[in-house]
Amino acid sequence: MTDILETKALSHDFSGLQVLENINFAVKQGERHAIIGPNGAGKTTFFNLVTGVYVPSSGKILFKSVDITKAKPYRLNRMGLGRSFQITSIFLKQTPFQNIRLAVLSKNKIRFNLFRRVDRMDEINEQTHEILREINLEQEAHLETSTLSYGKQRSLDFGMALATEPDLLMFDEPTAGMSRDESQTAVELIRKLTENKTMIIVEHDMDVVFSLADRVTVLHHGEILATGTPREIKENAGVKKAYLGETEV
Ligand SMILES: Nc1ncnc2c1ncn2[C@@H]1O[C@H](COP(=O)(O)OP(=O)(O)OP(=O)(O)O)[C@@H](O)[C@H]1O
Ligand SMILES: [Mg+2]
Repeated sequence: MTDILETKALSHDFSGLQVLENINFAVKQGERHAIIGPNGAGKTTFFNLVTGVYVPSSGKILFKSVDITKAKPYRLNRMGLGRSFQITSIFLKQTPFQNIRLAVLSKNKIRFNLFRRVDRMDEINEQTHEILREINLEQEAHLETSTLSYGKQRSLDFGMALATEPDLLMFDEPTAGMSRDESQTAVELIRKLTENKTMIIVEHDMDVVFSLADRVTVLHHGEILATGTPREIKENAGVKKAYLGETEV
């Protein structure tokens, strides 16, 4: 299968502090790939490089074989790279329906002020309801988003990412800050939403990683320690020593 995302000799430093070194990484079309590693390993930095938040110090990033090393987030979005943002991406004063509709509209590249035809309006509303159903927020569709639980707000955030129908979905610790129950619900939701889709998930929680991912890459001190199936990673002696041992899994 073809690689949808590749990084070649990717390195990054923050004012001389080397955070990522020579990362050669690839995600195949249709796989769910998890990136794990101890605190400070460089996971979020890697995520931010791929999603255009930072420009790498050196190396290359290819998305669908196009060089995106210096591409800005909005351009990546248009190319089909979707990321689940932290809670700040949703409009708390608006309803889940309004939030999702905004994302659906942006996918359809329709601006509110150009919006005239009623049949298209129906179509947009139908797509919006479809997503609300998928993320189990139909009941709350017309409540103010600020009144929803944190877990439900995160579901809404996943729905926003999904509504733009990206070719690659990226999550950075989607269950951070959730209760155990919320986390389990979120994992189930992510599993359902990303079926037959391509996803990269940066995650701390081993239960989440091993239940969601087809392949796992372990980062350690800014370098790739191993890549493999969850089983291979669990059995990898170097990984156990560097990572699993430290977190009492
Ligand atoms: N904007 C920044 N400026 C300077 N140093 C940074 C910056 N962002 C991250 N770092 C440093 O880079 C290293 C990697 O951080 P990063 O956030 O990528 O790790 P992480 O693997 O996501 O960790 P965590 O599991 O805690 O989320 C750390 O030493 C961190 O202090
Ligand atoms: Mg992080």
